[in-house]
Amino acid sequence: MLNLSYSLLINCAISVCAFFLTKRLIPSLRDMFIAANLFGNDLCKSDKPKIPEAMGVVTGCVFLIALFLFIPVPFVFSEKQINEFSHNQLVELISALLSICCMILLGFADDVLNLRWRHKLLLPTIASLPLLMVYYVNFNRTTIILPIFVRNILGSSIDIGILYYFYMGMLAVFCTNAINILAGINGLEAGQSLIIAASIIVFNIIEMTQDSNTRMEHAFSLHIIVPYFATSVALWMYNKYPARVFVGDTFCYLSGMTFAVVGILGHFSKTLLLFFIPQIINFLYSVPQLFHFVPCPRHRMPKYNATTNQLEASKTQFRYSDLNILGRLCVTIFRWLRIIDWQEDADGVVTTNNFTLINFLLIVLGPQHEQRLTNYLLFVQVFCTLVAFVIRYPLAKYFYEY
Ligand code: UD1
Ligand code: MG
Repeated sequence: MLNLSYSLLINCAISVCAFFLTKRLIPSLRDMFIAANLFGNDLCKSDKPKIPEAMGVVTGCVFLIALFLFIPVPFVFSEKQINEFSHNQLVELISALLSICCMILLGFADDVLNLRWRHKLLLPTIASLPLLMVYYVNFNRTTIILPIFVRNILGSSIDIGILYYFYMGMLAVFCTNAINILAGINGLEAGQSLIIAASIIVFNIIEMTQDSNTRMEHAFSLHIIVPYFATSVALWMYNKYPARVFVGDTFCYLSGMTFAVVGILGHFSKTLLLFFIPQIINFLYSVPQLFHFVPCPRHRMPKYNATTNQLEASKTQFRYSDLNILGRLCVTIFRWLRIIDWQEDADGVVTTNNFTLINFLLIVLGPQHEQRLTNYLLFVQVFCTLVAFVIRYPLAKYFYEY
């Protein structure tokens, strides 16, 4: 293999070019997207302007081109002979590209055709199969180390076998959809993905300097995540408030799959989830609406108030008596935890906020300007990353005695 630092350097150089290419391409393609009817209205502005949608397909393509150009680098320029190890590496890279490519296709199809929920759940699972197969053939480690306080009963580790594959398949579904449902205000989808990508980069660098046994796995992750980061920064520059482009579901799916790919093939699929704390909270909070225990409108993003130019929590209405048993249970727990707004009129009609983290912040902090709200949410994401590092290092050391 080519010296790692050289291949990382070449990767960074390709990424810088990819950044400038994306930055140039996006504005020049805006009109083409609008002409093709690929636009959405920015619902949080007074004049609801037409904004080109699905721009993630542009970053996705540049990202793929960057990775394609990078493929030969670690292999062709290698001083040593091509061996079994480099075959494994090549297969990992190609299968990573295959899964990401499939998700770009699915995301774009979703932006154009508005797919149903069941397809959104099924397709990422299938797209992650090549990855799982490569994991199986190359690595196939399915044991998990147990924390010290249960070792007396269960031993120091257990092999969970097929369940581990089930977990990794679910991870791909979760990562893709979790980013898509924490969305709806300018700069949030791209911003949160950038913070997650940056966290992964920092984690990979820490691991590479600490443990020489896993250096190659983390280098593999860096080779993929650095060009992703570069192209996404360019997208974020146009997506931040006031948005000139929307990223579309293409970008959310592409991002989620990229994170799942590096987590699975970089062998840190459990640590990866630590970088998704806000998305996990948002998902758990959304469960009653996602599974339709409580009515879920097409859009749950905050409501724009034109007189104050601020965003307020958006609402949903129902009768408590119309909810099924699970719906009643969920809203009772949420009310007990005081995490939802609840107003019931004399006829028994309940008005409550839509269950998203964005609306939750709005009930706690009161109405906010869109840009400020995005900043708060991104701040929460950064704070959770710091928590993740505390859990991963000092706390894990304490519980697992590394
Ligand atoms: C998901 C959410 C939905 C949220 C939507 C916003 C769930 C189950 N679905 O749906 O509640 O409203 O994302 O992205 O939680 N838009 C803006 N400003 C932005 C970004 C998007 O106004 O900064 C609007 C535009 O009209 C755009 C549309 O949202 O066209 C995109 O929505 P889409 O990605 O199709 O919604 P979903 O992903 O299905
Ligand atoms: Mg979306």
